[in-house]
Amino acid sequence: MDISTALRTNGAVRGFTADPVSDAVVSELLDDARFAPSGGNQQPWRVAVVKSPEVRTAMADLMRPVWQEYMGAQHAGKRAFAFGKSTGDAPVAAPNALIDDIQSVPVVLAIAADLNKIAIMDGNAEHRPPVVGGASIYPFCWSILLAAKARGLGGVLTTFLSRAEAQAVPVLGLPADHALVATIFLGVPTHQNTKLKRNPVESFASIDRFDGPPLTA
Ligand SMILES: Cc1cc2nc3c(=O)[nH]c(=O)nc-3n(C[C@H](O)[C@H](O)[C@H](O)COP(=O)(O)O)c2cc1C
Repeated sequence: MDISTALRTNGAVRGFTADPVSDAVVSELLDDARFAPSGGNQQPWRVAVVKSPEVRTAMADLMRPVWQEYMGAQHAGKRAFAFGKSTGDAPVAAPNALIDDIQSVPVVLAIAADLNKIAIMDGNAEHRPPVVGGASIYPFCWSILLAAKARGLGGVLTTFLSRAEAQAVPVLGLPADHALVATIFLGVPTHQNTKLKRNPVESFASIDRFDGPPLTA
């Protein structure tokens, strides 16, 4: 598959067949993904391949309240977790296959980043939370999903667990000075949406300045 097609069709997958994915294949995915860029080529990534049913259950138990908080905000018509804040709305219980069926997901990866290896260039911003540090780890995460796509696998990057990082520290043995940046679920898709809804270029790209005229083809 050419890169452009892969980029345009790698939709989130949240349902998986029972086909197992071997450690050898997971290792291949990570072997591809390790070529991702990172600031200063510091490669801050750490990966826990979570197989233990107990650890998976503990992760799901930490993710569930976050999901319910998200759904509470959704039901209230609000944007959940904007600027890291809770909306204060009552949590809403709703099914979530990734959380409820975590034991049957073929591959669960917890991804961490060593903060000693990330230059957080906007860490001094006083008017907003820092975001640039994420650029040293999320290309790696996305590369895992592209490497999966190349092998007929699919998956989704999630961040529920990052909201409960403090409680996840003992569950996952997260080292000090590490951020829990994502949980990636992978497997053979039961269905993959390849007709992705994304905004057109002219809606987000402009000439010279962000308030300049739209870039058109
Ligand atoms: C930073 C980030 C965080 C995400 N967090 C979650 C999550 O916690 N749970 C989830 O189900 N999907 C999560 N997703 C997946 C997005 O919902 C998905 O990429 C987006 O809705 C586009 O879906 P599509 O590829 O099917 O069009 C996340 C994606 C990113 C990039």
